[in-house]
Amino acid sequence: MAAYDEIADWYENQFLTSRRLPLGAPGRDPLDIDRTIRQLLGEGVGVCLEIGCGTGINAHVVRELGWVPVGVDLSVGMLGHALLRLPVALADAKRLPFRDSGIPAVVSVMVHTDMPGYPDIIQEAARVLEPGGVLVHVGVHPCFCGGFADRADPEAVVVRRGYLDRHWTTDSWTDQGLRDKVGAAHWSMPELLHAFLDAGLAVERFAEGGSPTPMVFAVRARRGPR
Ligand SMILES: C[S@@+](CC[C@H](N)C(=O)[O-])C[C@H]1O[C@@H](n2cnc3c(N)ncnc32)[C@H](O)[C@@H]1O
Repeated sequence: MAAYDEIADWYENQFLTSRRLPLGAPGRDPLDIDRTIRQLLGEGVGVCLEIGCGTGINAHVVRELGWVPVGVDLSVGMLGHALLRLPVALADAKRLPFRDSGIPAVVSVMVHTDMPGYPDIIQEAARVLEPGGVLVHVGVHPCFCGGFADRADPEAVVVRRGYLDRHWTTDSWTDQGLRDKVGAAHWSMPELLHAFLDAGLAVERFAEGGSPTPMVFAVRARRGPR
């Protein structure tokens, strides 16, 4: 049973309403996740594969940009919700069920802390990307969000000891989040950025989201031409 199976309904019905308010609501994207996907992915055509698509909440932004969203995830429970939003496959992002060099875009949104083998997963994403294809990573900010960061007061985030110790933890400043339920891996900024470089991708752009202290850090990387 995948870790998210037990919390899939809570994720869809409660957690996502704090991360994203209903469509059309003012300030509906407080972490700037939609804005960041728009900014880094940009308009395009063809398949955009989301690794760890969860309940499929990002499909509408990807579709708005002209892409055809397709998702993979390990959790049957999460995919039960995602099915209503995009075509999906039950698969481990470590072994994507796609041939080499056939997909023009891959997005990874708020998942790297769920993937202890993230560098291998980025390598696998690079394998399925076509030459010139784009990979967009949007994840929790390595510096300001982790078991070491106390965000109880958003005006004064406290960064405690722990940033430098790569670890998996369920420690969290809140019991309303994910880390306390399924745990999360921490990647320092250099470790995260090396994952793209080690996969042979060219890193092109960066973005941060959320304020006053960013909670999201994003990267656009590209597979080189043939
Ligand atoms: C925090 S949720 C994010 C879901 C979605 N991307 C979003 O933005 O709401 C993390 C998701 O990653 C999935 N996941 C974790 N490890 C995975 C793996 N190795 N392969 C595929 N999916 C994985 C989990 O099942 C879960 O649905």
